[in-house]
Amino acid sequence: MQVVPSAPTAQSRWKESEPLASSRRVLVVGGGGREHALAWKLRRDGAEVLVAPGNAGTAAIAENIPVAATDIAALVGVARDRGVDLTVVGPEAPLVAGIVDAFAAAGLRVFGPTARAAQLEGSKLFCKQMLHRGDVPTAMFQEFRSVAAAREFLAAREDMPIVVKADGLAAGKGVFVCDDRAAALAAVEALGSDPQFAGAAKGILIEERLDGAEVSVMAITDGRTIVTLPPLQDHKAAYDGDQGPNTGGMGAYCPTPFVDADLLADIEARILVPTVHAMRRAKVPFQGVLYAGLMLTAQGPKVLEFNARFGDPECEALMVLLESSLLDLLDGVADRRLETVEQPVWRPGASVTVVMASEGYPGAVEKGRTIRGLDAAAALPGVEVFHAATKLAVDGSVQSDGGRTLAVTAVGDSLARAKLLAYSGVREIRWPGAWCRKDISDKATAFELAAARAVPAAGDGAGA
Ligand code: AMP
Ligand code: GLY
Repeated sequence: MQVVPSAPTAQSRWKESEPLASSRRVLVVGGGGREHALAWKLRRDGAEVLVAPGNAGTAAIAENIPVAATDIAALVGVARDRGVDLTVVGPEAPLVAGIVDAFAAAGLRVFGPTARAAQLEGSKLFCKQMLHRGDVPTAMFQEFRSVAAAREFLAAREDMPIVVKADGLAAGKGVFVCDDRAAALAAVEALGSDPQFAGAAKGILIEERLDGAEVSVMAITDGRTIVTLPPLQDHKAAYDGDQGPNTGGMGAYCPTPFVDADLLADIEARILVPTVHAMRRAKVPFQGVLYAGLMLTAQGPKVLEFNARFGDPECEALMVLLESSLLDLLDGVADRRLETVEQPVWRPGASVTVVMASEGYPGAVEKGRTIRGLDAAAALPGVEVFHAATKLAVDGSVQSDGGRTLAVTAVGDSLARAKLLAYSGVREIRWPGAWCRKDISDKATAFELAAARAVPAAGDGAGA
């Protein structure tokens, strides 16, 4: 197994004078747990890392640049002035706003899709069109250009479970999974009247509701070659047992037993590859991370959504399992020669990421609470504490700075061990109002138990 340097503590700051294993300088755009995990891995790959804007966690292993992830002109300036030779874009907003196009126009190397290709995430309608071109399985849907048309359609339909979606980006809030027509009608009205959907709800999609287990499968692609990553399961609902409002994701684990090697090959062949081909044929080639949110239905896997970036918290759970170089994969995409890069090597075992959130999330949250116990958690074997929304106070303490605040991640030889370690880390950390789900990865355990029961033990039924 590869020997990795020990993690620096949250208090140790990156210093200009620190010796570096390589002269590669990489800029990570974003400031959440995904970006901390990417920066952490790229440091292990020997790169010097800048993060814009970063957080208190990235400040410990990289240089934070106080520029917003959406300030594209300023980021181009940073990359040019600081001699950055590869930029990796974490969040969707700058991708959809054209950061990759701007970097390319400035002659700068960058990992991520163009604005047009990022429409796969930015417009649910564009996504459906590409799925149709690629003959990729997804939920049946109808598109409406006005609230009145959507209302009329629902009124004429039988009362059934339905999903209502705003076409554009709505920070994960533009999707309403409805049990009946009354709830669907209320969702349509909300999209029409709530100012937070003003931009996103120019189009409204009404979809059949799919049933099954939800999984995340990501692939890295340069538009021609794809490298499929191990499957994960996110936990989107806020509370244990998948109760409560939808969130950006309260925890993830990897790999998920819901997707075995055969199913992963099927997902690659019937979903990922046809989508990449459809994009290329439509002259919108996709480079970067193609993230498929899938429902494993009785009829097989179907696409719920595509994202044009690493999932968060999925990225955190993936990075701790990646033994080979992330930088090589990203370089392969930036230079359109992914076929020349060795297949990634994954650590055996499993990982679990538990998101620790601040009071009020997914609604309005209290910020500025001092977080204690970070060093004790990080000192546990196999545990990495990725910061999702933190800032350094002037006295050097780490403070909460948003809803999803930390992504406590652990690796273990088994999923059970990884879970135990992740929650051991969580137990060390405290701030007023901190909370988390207690059941991250339990669905996998239940699934494995059910599978074991379904297979008769050797010798069962024989003899007599
Ligand atoms: P999306 O942003 O499209 O992924 O939707 C957010 C969440 O809503 C998904 O993670 C699913 O849990 C749920 N969802 C979306 N579309 C459907 C569907 N057609 N059937 C059931 N659940 C859905
Ligand atoms: N965890 C889901 C997402 O990143 O969209």
